[in-house]
Amino acid sequence: MPPRVEPINATLGAVVSGLALARMDAATWKAVERAFHEHAVLVFPGQHLTEDEQIAFANCFGDIELLAPDPAQRAVAISNQKPDGSIMGADEHRYKSLRGNEGWHTDSSYMPLAAKASVLSAQVVPSAGGETECADMRAAYDALDDRTRRRIEGLSAHHSLYHSQAAIGHVVKPGAGYGFHTKGAPLRPLVKVHPVTGRPALYIGRHAHAIPGLDVEESEQLLSDLVDFACRPPRTYAHAWRPGDVVIWDNRCVLHRARPYDYREARVMRHTRVAGDPATELAPTDRDDRAGAYEPSTSNR
Ligand SMILES: [Fe+2]
Repeated sequence: MPPRVEPINATLGAVVSGLALARMDAATWKAVERAFHEHAVLVFPGQHLTEDEQIAFANCFGDIELLAPDPAQRAVAISNQKPDGSIMGADEHRYKSLRGNEGWHTDSSYMPLAAKASVLSAQVVPSAGGETECADMRAAYDALDDRTRRRIEGLSAHHSLYHSQAAIGHVVKPGAGYGFHTKGAPLRPLVKVHPVTGRPALYIGRHAHAIPGLDVEESEQLLSDLVDFACRPPRTYAHAWRPGDVVIWDNRCVLHRARPYDYREARVMRHTRVAGDPATELAPTDRDDRAGAYEPSTSNR
């Protein structure tokens, strides 16, 4: 039996059921991959994957991007709960990263090699809020007026996690965590052509800033206007999590954000990130003033 793929009432997203992600045969995988390219966000309710099963599922899409210092660790917790069970305080580095995730972004655009896809599974969910919301940058590009399309054609932006965290008052030193590196800020076109579907999509979000050829105010205004326009219905879907749900999105054409919740409650997600293809997701970098040193590299490690 092929899996059931039910499109969500938005320009992106589908709910996929009638399969076990931990035991996909070749035909089922093909159906999942096809649905991923068509819908860009897939929701798999109630899969309850183990960590190894989640890693294996992510691995079907490509190499795993290593986010932790230990290369053996291929899944990470996105959580406000510490290993001892206590809840993080508002002054902690990782808490500020979580608050940063509430802004629209695409994963690892601030690394030399941006991410292909991201997998999240819910372990512990708060009583309200904490949804993951996705926005369709293919449909957003399609909906732009001709003037805006002409204006952004040929423009690129720098991407920096120092920049996006500084915008919420979190000033970070190199080496403080993943993304705070001295490899420079990648320069990426505002319009990305999807390597599989060929569809153009806006490639923007909170890490994007400093468009060459525009002054700082103009650049900020354009980028924030684009996000405002792009991340609206019918181009958005917010997933209200239940423990055991798995969601994957295509970072090449989707922006996402975490919705706020009461941070006194625990929210524990397990995350695996699929690395981009160097042929299409690797970008040259320029000096990032906030990083201090500049040691160009084409590696994320
Ligand atoms: Fe993210």
